[in-house]
Amino acid sequence: MALMMQLLILVLLPAAFLLPPAAWAGEIIGGQEARPHSRPHMAYLEIQRGQNSFHCGGFLVSENFVLTAAHCNGDKIKVTLGAHNIRRREASQVVIRAVRHIPHPQYNNRTKNNDIMLLKLDRKVTLNNYVKTISLPATNKTIKPGDVCNVAGWGRIGCTSTTDRLQEVDVEVLENEECQTYSLYNPTTMLCAGDPKKGKDSAQGDSGGPLVCKGKPQGIVSWGPCHPPGVYTRVSTFITWIQKTMKNLQP
Ligand code: ARG
Repeated sequence: MALMMQLLILVLLPAAFLLPPAAWAGEIIGGQEARPHSRPHMAYLEIQRGQNSFHCGGFLVSENFVLTAAHCNGDKIKVTLGAHNIRRREASQVVIRAVRHIPHPQYNNRTKNNDIMLLKLDRKVTLNNYVKTISLPATNKTIKPGDVCNVAGWGRIGCTSTTDRLQEVDVEVLENEECQTYSLYNPTTMLCAGDPKKGKDSAQGDSGGPLVCKGKPQGIVSWGPCHPPGVYTRVSTFITWIQKTMKNLQP
């Protein structure tokens, strides 16, 4: 009997590796390398929090403000713009320190609600082919289930593997019900997206990056397990806060 089991394991284990990649819950799952510099609004954030350091995504919304997730906050944040391969020193890269971190005042790290943060950069960046702003969506502009959006990031490309080069994947906006299995899901401040059938999703390390729908950043990678659907901050809910905050911090 034990021998039978061993034989079965020997036969079935290699078979698991033959499954299509989508069956591996959890990459910018199910995506591909982005065409270099095709998303010039993308920012790579290196965050120091106490003894720890980690990274997140973000996006340039004006010459001196980057939008990201509040859970990416830390003591020090270094922002790289114009990057494709984050491990290389590309001529297009611009590295700037964030001088102000403004997480949403109602951000709650237990409920993950209002997971949005503005970073004011040390100076205004020069915009060029590699560094561009992306304009915000209109207030309360509703995006509908079935809309196809795109999410990019330097996060994991599986539950554990990492990447140096920007990855991207198309994901669908899902009905709120599909995320309501997550007890913390709040349809007013959050957005549900992913492709559960094809296993497409954002992943650990993509947080803070934009979910772009028809050219507008409608979502911010926020949380989710290592498989779709993923939960995004619903950007359209926060337009007034974003604009007011940026205006207040302008000299
Ligand atoms: N919280 C993660 C981060 O900090 C993002 C997780 C996204 N997960 C998902 N299934 N979409 O990078």
